[in-house]
Amino acid sequence: METKIFDMKKNILDDDIFFCAKIIKEGGLVAFPTETVYGLGANALCETSVKKIYEAKGRPSDNPLIIHIGDVGQLDLVAKNVCDKTKALIKKFWPGALTVILYKKDIVPNATSGGLKTVAVRFPSNEIAKRLIKASVPLAAPSANTSGKPSPTQMGHVKEDLENKIEAIIDGGSCNFGLESTIIDMTENPPKLLRPGTITREMIEDIIGHIETDINSKKPKAPGMKYKHYSPNATIILVKNREKINEYLKETTEKVGILTTTENEKYYNKNKCEVITLGSIDNPIEMGSKLYKSFREFDEKGVKVVYSEYFGSDDSAIMNRLKKASSKINT
Ligand code: TXA
Ligand code: MG
Repeated sequence: METKIFDMKKNILDDDIFFCAKIIKEGGLVAFPTETVYGLGANALCETSVKKIYEAKGRPSDNPLIIHIGDVGQLDLVAKNVCDKTKALIKKFWPGALTVILYKKDIVPNATSGGLKTVAVRFPSNEIAKRLIKASVPLAAPSANTSGKPSPTQMGHVKEDLENKIEAIIDGGSCNFGLESTIIDMTENPPKLLRPGTITREMIEDIIGHIETDINSKKPKAPGMKYKHYSPNATIILVKNREKINEYLKETTEKVGILTTTENEKYYNKNKCEVITLGSIDNPIEMGSKLYKSFREFDEKGVKVVYSEYFGSDDSAIMNRLKKASSKINT
């Protein structure tokens, strides 16, 4: 199938939105931008449409999808027992990069919920995403990458992975955050953080008080967190002591990449390795927005080993993704 590409970076034309909405309503797949990463959307309430997502991505079918809604009112269509704490979180963070896990209504097919009694729901703030959902139906959408590859943060990444496998891709430019949404399980008491994102544990606790987390657990409750994820082909090695990186560089004969900050880039010899600077250590959002792109760039440059510095606390969204992508942590 030939994938149609719609450029909505500058203008969002009603005609184009309706064309893409029609593809969805007829059971097809459309990749679309969100403020976190690009999503691969299908009609969340239609089993056969949703199954196509798993096929296109090569994703294990026990890994449930997030339902993206186009306004808060659509939450009651797919979820039940919405408690006061959930309502408070939604009021504060929606539309935005927060996914809540709630008990599902029967209308949600097993293909969407991965056979679970619960369902993940998010109301994205990206204008294109909102308009596409409003013109069609709630969208089941995982990140629009081939399973195991880094999530796509710009149209070209989606094209690389899914061209000719899906009906359309909407180009909305680069994603603001570049890391997937925070996931919180509201069916647990206290609620449990399943995946860290730009909405932090502290921001959530400010609204609803104490929560638990299982992000470092060996048996994570979000099925997707157990897979080796988010990784480039190159081996990533996290190095706590920056000075050691230059020692490792002397020893290795393979093509090496360095992941660093604006503050530290001066320490590396760019003639000897591929240096990618994510941004200032004081701007974690900017750094996060460039992480997955850097993974793809290292692969394009044929880098075999990437040494990465530590960028903040272990439980931050960026370190969570880096730890998942890396095979080795050196102190
Ligand atoms: O930012 C995002 O959330 C992006 C954009 C496209 O919205 N989407 C995304 O989807 O990251 P995906 O499929 O790559 O990740 C969804 C995660 C998986 O780890 C999955 O296991 C978990 O959510 N999940 C979905 N439903 C769940 C449920 N009922 N209980 C526990 N975890 C669930
Ligand atoms: Mg994903």
